[in-house]
Amino acid sequence: MTEAQEKTAPTSTGQTVAGLRYLSGFGNHHATEAVAGGLPEGRNSPQRAPLGLYAEQISGTAFTAPRRTNRRSWVYRIRPSAAHSAFVPIDSGHVRTAPVWDELLNPNRMRWDPPPVPEVPTDFVEGLFTIGANGDAEAHTGVAIHQYAATTSMTERYFVNADGEMLLVPQSGTLLLHTEMGVLQVSPGEIAVVPRGIRWRVVLPDGQARGYVLENYGAMLTLPELGPIGANGLANHRDFLAPVAAYEDTEASVEVVQKYGGALWSSEYDHSPLDVVAWHGNYTPYKYDLSRFMVVGTVSFDHPDPSIYTVLTSPSEVPGTANADFVIFAPRWLVGENTFRPPWYHRNVMTEFMGLVHGVYDAKAEGFVPGGASLHNSFTSHGPDAATFRAASTRELTPQKIDDTLAFMFETRLPLRLTSAAAGAPHLQTDYDAVWQGLTKGFTA
Ligand SMILES: [Fe+2]
Repeated sequence: MTEAQEKTAPTSTGQTVAGLRYLSGFGNHHATEAVAGGLPEGRNSPQRAPLGLYAEQISGTAFTAPRRTNRRSWVYRIRPSAAHSAFVPIDSGHVRTAPVWDELLNPNRMRWDPPPVPEVPTDFVEGLFTIGANGDAEAHTGVAIHQYAATTSMTERYFVNADGEMLLVPQSGTLLLHTEMGVLQVSPGEIAVVPRGIRWRVVLPDGQARGYVLENYGAMLTLPELGPIGANGLANHRDFLAPVAAYEDTEASVEVVQKYGGALWSSEYDHSPLDVVAWHGNYTPYKYDLSRFMVVGTVSFDHPDPSIYTVLTSPSEVPGTANADFVIFAPRWLVGENTFRPPWYHRNVMTEFMGLVHGVYDAKAEGFVPGGASLHNSFTSHGPDAATFRAASTRELTPQKIDDTLAFMFETRLPLRLTSAAAGAPHLQTDYDAVWQGLTKGFTA
């Protein structure tokens, strides 16, 4: 791996923030300076760091993790991040953490309308709403699934999550993520991942934002193996973009909110924690434009398993069985001959949470709307609704482009325990089972 070349990168909406540049390559060892000379040459911790900065290492994996999975970055900052007062617990709002014991494990199919836009000013952290969780954050296994709906930018408030990395899937509204490593602009159609322990704040250039979050307590998200697909395809390494160094040199009272052991904690800082002037390493937030995903599918017959659409995976200790997968259903051609082209009816030991960024998902004719969500817990029976089944069983099988759609799935090996807030939410659909009621008997002996 080599130092990556800096590049400008337009978002899927074609808009860029003036001056935003990115570093290309998944897991690359990047090197970047907001002020020339901020990085020491040939060593990490000289007797005196350049420009009067403090040197600090942030380790995302154990020091001794194998090279293939080892992640760490050296940051050169105005003050060491140790310079802060005590954290005290604060109200956690609708944020919950595994293990969640609110509810019985629920064998029902669940579906939600989009969450309402908050009526009072709400920033990203206040706007987090936990749907459910599995595993145990303290044991570094499992996930939590959240939605967010926010209406105000974080200006004097910062966030850091020690429990898990956060995969953000914006559904409406661009996010500007100001992080210790620099700034990422993330719009609907793109995703971002913020690792554990990194300080950041969320600015809303559109004045509001809504989307989904996978909080991954397990092994860091990585690219899936490609097997017989070969060396290329699905999500390509170079399309993952890290920020260039950017720093805030402010001396004012700000709040840093830390998610730690399931609780939110708050500390008052007398300076911005985003004061990294230069950094190098491979532990960094990153973004990815989902339109860059090379979709692979059948060119003969049968609907392949959706694992073929995996963008990122968090492996578990069981080979081939992910703690979590992030899977997308992107625009693509369907050409299968003598094939029922939508997803088949199925039950799955893995748990499937789905969201819709825009358009229509090809297994549900109605009721699953952008910003909404569905949960098919482990071994719940599901598949196309009756309208989709009838249409797909009788249509002429000419090549068909599925266009103007972007659905996704957070798939996780453990069943998801719902929070009481999600199980009792006013936007929970109470009639979801009805979508399979119109499947009439077609059997004739
Ligand atoms: Fe499914």
